[in-house]
Amino acid sequence: MQQLSLFDINDPIEDEREELLRLRNELREHNYRYYVLSAPTISDREFDEKMHRLEALEQRHPEWMDPESPTQKVGSDLAQKNPKVQKTGNFEQVAHRYPMLSLANTYSEEEIRAWLDRVYKGLDYTSSNTPIEIVCELKFDGLSISLWYEHGKLTKALTRGDGVKGDNVIDNIRTIPTIPQDISSKTDLRSVELRGEVLLPWENFERINKQRELAEEPLFANPRNAASGTLKSLDPELVRARGLSVYLYYVLGDNLPGNSHSERLDWARQLGFPISEAMRVCKSVDEVMDFIHFWDKERRNLPVATDGVVLKVNNLKQQEQLGFTAKTPRWAIAYKFEAEKQLTQLEEVSYQVGRTGAITPVANMTPVQLSGTMVHRATLNNEDFIRQLDLHEGDFVWVEKGGEIIPKITAVETSRRQENARPITFIRNCPECGTPLVRFEGEAAWYCPNDNCPPQMKGKMEHFVARKAMNIDGLGAETIDLFFELGLIRNIADIYQLRAEDIAPLQGFGERSAERIIQGIEASKQVPWARVLFAIGIRFVGETTAKKLARAFPNIDLLMAADEEQLIAVEDVGNEIARSIRRYFESADNLAIIERLRKAGLQLEGEEATMSVGNSLEGLSIVISGVFEHHSRDEYKALIEQHGGKNVSSVSAKTAFILAGGNMGPAKLEKAEKLGVKIMSETEFLQLIGEIQ
Ligand code: IVH
Repeated sequence: MQQLSLFDINDPIEDEREELLRLRNELREHNYRYYVLSAPTISDREFDEKMHRLEALEQRHPEWMDPESPTQKVGSDLAQKNPKVQKTGNFEQVAHRYPMLSLANTYSEEEIRAWLDRVYKGLDYTSSNTPIEIVCELKFDGLSISLWYEHGKLTKALTRGDGVKGDNVIDNIRTIPTIPQDISSKTDLRSVELRGEVLLPWENFERINKQRELAEEPLFANPRNAASGTLKSLDPELVRARGLSVYLYYVLGDNLPGNSHSERLDWARQLGFPISEAMRVCKSVDEVMDFIHFWDKERRNLPVATDGVVLKVNNLKQQEQLGFTAKTPRWAIAYKFEAEKQLTQLEEVSYQVGRTGAITPVANMTPVQLSGTMVHRATLNNEDFIRQLDLHEGDFVWVEKGGEIIPKITAVETSRRQENARPITFIRNCPECGTPLVRFEGEAAWYCPNDNCPPQMKGKMEHFVARKAMNIDGLGAETIDLFFELGLIRNIADIYQLRAEDIAPLQGFGERSAERIIQGIEASKQVPWARVLFAIGIRFVGETTAKKLARAFPNIDLLMAADEEQLIAVEDVGNEIARSIRRYFESADNLAIIERLRKAGLQLEGEEATMSVGNSLEGLSIVISGVFEHHSRDEYKALIEQHGGKNVSSVSAKTAFILAGGNMGPAKLEKAEKLGVKIMSETEFLQLIGEIQ
């Protein structure tokens, strides 16, 4: 029997205090992921729920109020606070003239009505002569921008930053063709500021993700993240190629024409600014609700992402009367749309075997249209997830797209379950090789422990040759599969025994491509230790962890000899990762492979050695532009640093030279010519650093 002790009796106030502190920390972390890393890990809905819960707790306990609480401050996107993101951090920070606030938001129509009541009360409506008008606009889902015009010229473009100061991303903003650069012929206003949302249209988002998939780069989860990642890039040419767009929704400044928000937007539209036509000046609650209902459906046909409707009091005097809280205007509120969801039927659960042997259950469903794409598969994560859903055969399920690209099953519609439906039970044997599955303590996944299980063998090799791993030219996933089927290779060490004579006679190859593959394999022997460690595919050891491990253990022998405690001492390595590393090196097969890789001449040591390879570029500022053949852009950046140089984004008189690939941007070329900056080809550069003779 369980024993109850005094300590089990919880103090409700203490619990609330703990919850409040936890929520503040969680929300800070999620703000950072959303605004700085452009890679959120929870949906907007989940974020808003946590924020609302924190607001409620703080309201109940004013004595716990803290001006630093996330409820009191807007999330910061400032690049500087983020040493992890190397591509950012070089923008000029500028103080906003007017603080850049956020909006109160709600998912409930009732709360919209309550807000309207507060507005009416706040303006003392009965005695007021000016009728109250509410402007409804779409809430565009991108990131906010503030454009400064001085004497008619666009001079600055600031991100929201922390609301007080922002990053000046003007060079990137100038790549957006619909933003006027000069309005001096249309107005003689000395100074005006326009605020709006930078967006990446769906079409461009999909194109970019296709390219990223081919290049084996991580996909953007949604257009907002893609837009925000893009706007913070230090390479305006890349920004131009991505194709950002913008809608403006707020005009600020002294002596502006018009007494209302809508008049000012009309004025800005006449000056040529991109102002959305999807707006309406409403005179009643019903008109507001009509607007919301109309756009909740119609937004699916828009070229850009929207996540709600913004309601603003139209009259500027009334806005002033209502004023602001610390974080939001009282004269505006956002109504957020529910994520689109659909009901569909489960047809079958299938199981995928990953390269590490982990089994992922997948729901195959009757195809259904969701946010513009056909959805017929969704991940079921693991056995526990299936249990939590209580999923049965033939169940009707709700699918949703949250913050991620992959659709999720969020619930089962039990009312439509067949009476005799059987619960889904997780398989006990590998679907590919029949081996009984195993589950390690503390882990959610089942594994196929058979190292000779074909999808694992192929998956490991595909991972090994990938661009971010050994980057073996000419050996893609398809070629690996083919060589495996033909029995030419069974594991990563076999790759180094491939000969041109084995490949050339195969259909679709020939001597030249065989030679290219062999050269690619040869070149991979120079790939540094940290990437080799990532490439060998130890479960949970991703790119970043591999780098940290490689720094802590300068060679593979030291890593192999490390016990769990020594491994955990490395930053970011927890129990799970440490155990996984130990397991990897306990396998005799893996050790045999490592020995063969060592004999083949791979770099199994020497992070320090590769950190600084030479000083041929000592003190030089170098701009990279165009597309390259021998290395990726990221690799060229690393090479520049390894040889003592500095990679900078824009051409100036201080630029030593431009490392130019194909398709170099015309603007850069022109600027380089004007300033007399040397243009260096890829080959010349590789000669300079001694990579080729
Ligand atoms: S007005 C002081 N109008 O939503 C009010 N914001 O959640 C300033 N947004 O930071 C904002 N569409 O980035 C306004 N039509 C619209 C909007 C909009 C999108 C964004 C904006 C803001 C965020 C607040």
